[in-house]
Amino acid sequence: MAAPTTDLSTADRFWADADRHLVRYAGAGDFTREIIDHAAGSYLFTESGRRILDFTSGQMSAILGHSHPEIVETVRRQIGSLDHLFSGMLSRPVVDLARRLAETLPSPLEKALLLTTGAESNEAAIRMAKLVTGKHEIVSFARSWHGMTQAAANATYSAGRKGYGPASPGNFAIPAPNSYRPDFLTADGGLDWRRQLDFGFEMIDAQSVGSLAACVVEPILSSGGIIEPPVGYFAALREKCRERGMLLILDEAQTGLCRTGNWYAFERDGVVPDILTLSKTLGAGLPLAAVITSAEIEQEAHDRGYLFFTTHVADPLVAAVGNTVLDVLTRDRLDERATELGAFLRRGLDNIAGRHDVVGDIRGRGLLVGVELVADRATKRSSDELGALVTRRCLELGLHMNIVQLPGMGGVFRIAPPLTATEDELAEGLAVLDQAIGDAGR
Ligand SMILES: Cc1ncc(COP(=O)(O)O)c(C=O)c1O
Repeated sequence: MAAPTTDLSTADRFWADADRHLVRYAGAGDFTREIIDHAAGSYLFTESGRRILDFTSGQMSAILGHSHPEIVETVRRQIGSLDHLFSGMLSRPVVDLARRLAETLPSPLEKALLLTTGAESNEAAIRMAKLVTGKHEIVSFARSWHGMTQAAANATYSAGRKGYGPASPGNFAIPAPNSYRPDFLTADGGLDWRRQLDFGFEMIDAQSVGSLAACVVEPILSSGGIIEPPVGYFAALREKCRERGMLLILDEAQTGLCRTGNWYAFERDGVVPDILTLSKTLGAGLPLAAVITSAEIEQEAHDRGYLFFTTHVADPLVAAVGNTVLDVLTRDRLDERATELGAFLRRGLDNIAGRHDVVGDIRGRGLLVGVELVADRATKRSSDELGALVTRRCLELGLHMNIVQLPGMGGVFRIAPPLTATEDELAEGLAVLDQAIGDAGR
């Protein structure tokens, strides 16, 4: 047994214990050097008495802010009456949530499987697509993030592929359509996404052994650097899938449930997926996820013996939370709120860009916004160091920001405050960011 660390202040002991006893799970990343004591609304509060504005909604999930009173009330009530069940049993919160999710979605999406995490939802969706099509090949974006379990990780290209042995055969990547850094050019220097998509599928067709099952994509690539495919892209991708008998799986872990100004990001494109996965935002910070599909696909899956039996499938506690999330989103019209706050945020970021040459690009939708910092606007040369400096300075000044650091992406901030944030809170965050960029530049 490890001996307790002694003769240290309580904070030093905390970090000594953390260093000694925790597995570091963030790759090259480190733990944020703050001891978080509690959180409320848009703020985190540290043990040392600091208040930190949370511009990432926790892990992009807490769309109602932290400890929303109605979520607290639901958890208290539900844990005291019905927490968890044998996985083959049903309860009212589960059936209510499945029905209510269908009511928020276009036809034919009406059958839900309620799970726990984003990776798990994608795992279940990919398993379903393979079973239903009788095929196994999966296509996703080269800057994707779909989770850390096997099928989800196999479809994830933005990080974490090296060193874990073989990915399953038949996983392919197509380039992500990045308008700020176009790789296929139109005559006027913009992104020729049609040619890029055609090229991507030429490569897929060349490599495929004739077993293409599904394409799994995020409507806005978040971990990949807030890359928003242009209007028309998803309709064209849908066509590529249809031509090949593939299912289209949309992963709305971060974009679902009002964050982009629509209930679902795919509404912008008028493209209904065969299978939709929801997670992070659905539980607003609690572990709840869903796979939603048509009755036809569900029937085919069932006929073929679809199995996704887990410990926490259809758990009443988090399903009750999901129902409360839907109540609050609907009552408080948080889709419209995300559009309004997104416009406010965008104006503030445009002002910052006017003052600092290092802001290369601002993109995204509603309250999912990316700010890309560059060392040189003309060449778009990226600077990971600058991104790290600004992130650190923001934290010192009381703002938590998340930066994506992928090779060639430079520093892209992902800004995703709770949909319940106020304009004053956004203005506070913008002022800190403005100062931090100025300080880092100096
Ligand atoms: C789009 C997307 N899908 C899936 C996941 C995985 O979710 P989880 O970490 O809950 O497994 C993430 C997590 O960042 C994500 O951003």
